[in-house]
Amino acid sequence: MSEHLGGPHGSQVGLGTAENIGDGSSGEGAAQPQHFAFDEASEAEITAILTKYPPSRKASGVLPLLYVVQRQMRRQTGSAWVPRVAMDVVAARLELPPIRVYEVATFYLMFNTNPVGRHHLQVCGTTPCWLRGSEEVTRACRDETGIKGWRQTSADGMFTMSEVECLGACVNAPILQVDDDYYEDLDYDRTVALLRALRRGETPKPGSVIGRITSAPEGGPTTLKTLPIAGE
Ligand code: FES
Repeated sequence: MSEHLGGPHGSQVGLGTAENIGDGSSGEGAAQPQHFAFDEASEAEITAILTKYPPSRKASGVLPLLYVVQRQMRRQTGSAWVPRVAMDVVAARLELPPIRVYEVATFYLMFNTNPVGRHHLQVCGTTPCWLRGSEEVTRACRDETGIKGWRQTSADGMFTMSEVECLGACVNAPILQVDDDYYEDLDYDRTVALLRALRRGETPKPGSVIGRITSAPEGGPTTLKTLPIAGE
């Protein structure tokens, strides 16, 4: 990992060291970069985002702009997170006191305020997923990555593992969120297969891993069978 990554606007992010991730730690208190600037792709996204809000209400863009930061960090460093200096850049862009951005970034679990591995595994442990085997998903993640605790990163820097509350996809429980995608209807073996594919650099098709049609019953729809989505 380079100390500074260049791009269309020159050096956009001054990183800490590779020790930030991949050391098996939780990443808490990791070195913060000293500099962040939006790259060309992010600037294009921001232009589109800010057209949705009146100039006097552009503070509402704080959530989408934090996502822009996180995606840029993934592109540039392989780790999707939001450094504090980037929160300051968002605050300046939206003409907000920095604390207003810190409050949002540290409240929502979707934003990683410390470096994560190349893939962020978020295991849903809420009741429907638990009843449908989320503990087996957790066990598979631990066995396959070597990660012992939550919010820790595997020794090879490939995976960070977090426990989350309901992801809103209970009907296809248990759910594992990998980065921005949901993988559904998992069990131990299917989770292992998924993680091995990710390790090989593949991106398995998100959604139900047993071929369930949207949220229809396992085996296919039992009503409205003539709709095109039912495959009949
Ligand atoms: S309980 Fe896991 S998605 Fe709702």
